[in-house]
Amino acid sequence: MNVKDRLIIALDYSNMEDAKNIVETLGDTVSFYKVGLELFLNSKGEMVDYLTEKGKKVFLDLKFHDIPNTTTMASLFAAKRNVFMFNIHATGGKQMMESVAKKVKEVNPEMLAIAVTILTSFSEEGVQETFKSTLNIKELALNLARLTKEAGMDGVVCSPWEAKAIKESCGEMFKTVCPGVRPRWSAANDQERIMTPKDAILNGCDYLVVGRPITKNENPVEAAKLVLKEIEEGMKEGAVC
Ligand code: C5P
Repeated sequence: MNVKDRLIIALDYSNMEDAKNIVETLGDTVSFYKVGLELFLNSKGEMVDYLTEKGKKVFLDLKFHDIPNTTTMASLFAAKRNVFMFNIHATGGKQMMESVAKKVKEVNPEMLAIAVTILTSFSEEGVQETFKSTLNIKELALNLARLTKEAGMDGVVCSPWEAKAIKESCGEMFKTVCPGVRPRWSAANDQERIMTPKDAILNGCDYLVVGRPITKNENPVEAAKLVLKEIEEGMKEGAVC
């Protein structure tokens, strides 16, 4: 993977005009964008076509969660729209993930099928209240990552703090997609367990999802270049280790 392929800009906008403006501003500096529910719904799905027509890669972050047939049909929408990566909830179960992985690979073998394990907004108490499990959050997330792998999916969304353990358990080829990344020069905002881009790369993150440090920066192009530089440093250092 080259440096640019590893940076995914989160387009957290409620209207397509603002989202298009930042894509125009970032120009050739950035090649990969995340479209979540807010922008997808407000743009009636058009943002995905806009990005693919511009030759940008898309992470369709709609987190599908339903019975196997319904989730698979929704996932086929992503496969046919030629997005680079999409996601579902691993808590939909192994049978659901197997069905999704099998069907989307038939239609679009290149597309990365990713699962969300435990939402990082959950506290330990929230997880216990909801799942009544004897496992803690980290153990639950690791178990779901293993199920994701066994189901034939390509990887998980996870905190940079969990990426190493997931790689150790699921293998180097299993993808880790990590939000919660913050360069030292930017505010943490509402993110809690943050890591710098360079450390995230060194700790096993394949893809870094970064939003506000770049999109809300006075100079988004410079901010993106600084993050890319750190990713490159991490890749060089990692290659030496
Ligand atoms: O602006 P910021 O860099 O915090 O944006 C991170 C992006 O990653 C947002 O779109 C957020 O919804 C998403 N995300 C996250 N934590 C997760 C899953 C997704 O921050 N566990």
